[in-house]
Amino acid sequence: MSSQHVKIFDTTLRDGEQSPGASMNLAEKLQVAHILKELGVDIIEAGFPIASPGDFESVQAIAREVHGPIICGLARCNPADIDRAGAAVKDAPLPRIHVFLATSAIHREFKLRMAKEEILRRAVEGVKRARDLIADVEFSPEDASRTELEFLAEVVEKVIEAGATTINLPDTVGYATPEQYGAIFAYIRKHVRGIENITLSAHCHDDLGMAVANSLSAIQNGARQIECTINGIGERAGNCALEEVVMALRTRADYYGIDTTINARKLYPASRLLSHVTGLAVQRNKAVVGQNAFAHESGIHQDGMLKERRTYEIMNPEDVGISRTELVLGKHSGRHALRQRVSDLGYHLSEEQLNRVFESFKTLADKKKVVYDADIEALAEAQIHSGPAVWTLEAVTCTGGSATIPSAVVALWHQEGRIVREAAYGDGPVDAVFKAIDLATGIHVNLIDFRIRSVSEGEDAQGEASVEAMYQDKVLSGRAVSTDIVEAAALAYLQVTNRVALRNRIALDRVKPTEVAADPELREAN
Ligand code: KIV
Ligand code: ZN
Repeated sequence: MSSQHVKIFDTTLRDGEQSPGASMNLAEKLQVAHILKELGVDIIEAGFPIASPGDFESVQAIAREVHGPIICGLARCNPADIDRAGAAVKDAPLPRIHVFLATSAIHREFKLRMAKEEILRRAVEGVKRARDLIADVEFSPEDASRTELEFLAEVVEKVIEAGATTINLPDTVGYATPEQYGAIFAYIRKHVRGIENITLSAHCHDDLGMAVANSLSAIQNGARQIECTINGIGERAGNCALEEVVMALRTRADYYGIDTTINARKLYPASRLLSHVTGLAVQRNKAVVGQNAFAHESGIHQDGMLKERRTYEIMNPEDVGISRTELVLGKHSGRHALRQRVSDLGYHLSEEQLNRVFESFKTLADKKKVVYDADIEALAEAQIHSGPAVWTLEAVTCTGGSATIPSAVVALWHQEGRIVREAAYGDGPVDAVFKAIDLATGIHVNLIDFRIRSVSEGEDAQGEASVEAMYQDKVLSGRAVSTDIVEAAALAYLQVTNRVALRNRIALDRVKPTEVAADPELREAN
């Protein structure tokens, strides 16, 4: 416990992916897992294998392909969940099962309808079952920060006896304050037998904007694992932001005296990659990775910066992977330079995908004088998104303007080899395009948000379209880039449509309800 190293447990692909609009497909999750490995995280929580066949497959694929970090799968405290998590992570060189069960009075009474004795029994049985499958087992008493301290200590002691190797104390609803959260760790360290042999972990949500502060307080009170996500994405207001907690420890090493194995220069590429893959933009003033994090507007600050950078900057942008001078590529740049840039930007592409990026790069470089990082990100991303698309865009045309009724015609290829053409009127040209796509695919989603922005500089900049839409209570997002903004809009919308088409097909392929889904008690237990 006295170690001065804190493990970074990244849950972007599990807790983070639970945030609205953040769902990712397998190819996207693998990209994120690869950059997490490059970032040097100690543990990747790759998903919740029982949640869906897709979740299982992605945890399994990450366990098989991404070697270095521990690969962890989440499970509720029941045999079916635990076995599924064990099966998903078993091929990882370093597998972990993370079992959780709520312990607070409010969860016991209203969600689980279980007495304390039952919670204790189930927690112990769950941990033992997980230990029979995998040696590395983490246990989380969900809503720990609102659990009676004595009961919390009792549960923790019993699951350590049952074989848990890491104990995570979640502030599930972001209710704790730094002093109080730290005091829970101090109490558990003082009152639990065997605690000195396990790793204590913090898991904080940001409902009151205190997730990072709470995590740091936990560290000061003995936590040696922090659960966090890139850009702080996660349920509701999100989780503790990885880049913030890591840079706080690094910048204030004089105060905390604790280090991590994170390669900070990968923080910015990881943040960009996640935001591209999910379509969830990072707020401009976000600490460490926001667009304004190192921008100085006021004259006094600019003057100070010119005289001595440290007058107004406590971190060096280069240290988190932000370059003050962007490298640009042009039509004479070769394959090697492009490959290097793609990799520096955090993308992990196959040879075949790189070849396709190179082809598109040459076409783009012919149209534009200079190709910026944002353009290259867009080209690399197109490869990830070009996974199993049910519908692809053949052509789109539209008319608009104040003196005409906006209309559009789209031609789409269906995966089975047929082409479908449809025309529609709309409130504007983009609305008409979306309506024509709905008609062609037969899939209707409710648009929540649509944005267009330029991804690089200059008049010949590419336009990036982002679409957020609702389908059956789920928020789905799509993003696409093109030099033609109408085409970008159509492609982004089609990405959402494809997500729906793929889901519906997977659902049809696998309509075999699992034992867990059929069990009302277990269904309620989450
Ligand atoms: O917030 C929470 O309590 C969780 C647990 C599953 C660890 O995410
Ligand atoms: Zn959580």
